[in-house]
Amino acid sequence: MAILIEHPFVQHKLAIIRNAETGHKRFRELAKEITQFICYEALKTIRTKEVVVETPVAPATCRKIDTDLVVVPILRAGVGMLDGILDLAPTARVGFVGLYRDEETKQPVTYYERFPPQIEGGTCIVIDPMLATGGSTVAALELLKEKGAGTIVVICIVTCPEGIALVEGAHPDVPIYAAAIDEKLNDEKYIVPGLGDAGDRLFGTSHP
Ligand code: PRP
Ligand code: URA
Repeated sequence: MAILIEHPFVQHKLAIIRNAETGHKRFRELAKEITQFICYEALKTIRTKEVVVETPVAPATCRKIDTDLVVVPILRAGVGMLDGILDLAPTARVGFVGLYRDEETKQPVTYYERFPPQIEGGTCIVIDPMLATGGSTVAALELLKEKGAGTIVVICIVTCPEGIALVEGAHPDVPIYAAAIDEKLNDEKYIVPGLGDAGDRLFGTSHP
């Protein structure tokens, strides 16, 4: 299931981050800001428990989060979304999956994995700005499930119908939250219109 975040703030920021003229500093800021809005929506159903808090006046019945949160950026571009989530959930733990798309085959290649033990039974938030063919996300979800992850949500900035179909087919239990569901992939398996190479634009490796 893919959930599109249509809030005007998100769509306004998306218009700027897509622009080829937007440089890496602003791109990074926007990736963080967009991620925070999406995260806010994606985590609205996480488990909470009732607690009673003494205010200066009287006891108040409140709710507190009752699940371990584990944020899992897919290296490298997912790192550009990490600070945004940690600002919202400062006690969240972080696991890493290193994946890149082989430039010839477009298939994901795993080169790194490191997870906190709370992955088992916790709530995992997989972050990667681009869900294109979906191959990287499917590979990351397989790893997380092998490690016993409980609830998993995926947060991306831009995706497309092909990627959604692949993830839904392999992991129908995992919702995908996105700021945009674009038209298609091109022959290079880039999202059209997309925003280009998210890793390069975030880290300034090729964008002016
Ligand atoms: C990009 C992107 C995703 C992947 C999406 O990473 O950040 O991880 O491609 O493609 P897919 O859905 O077709 O698998 P890339 O391989 O460019 O690596 P990088 O993050 O190191 O730049
Ligand atoms: N990876 C990116 O960074 N952009 C795309 O459009 C597809 C994969």
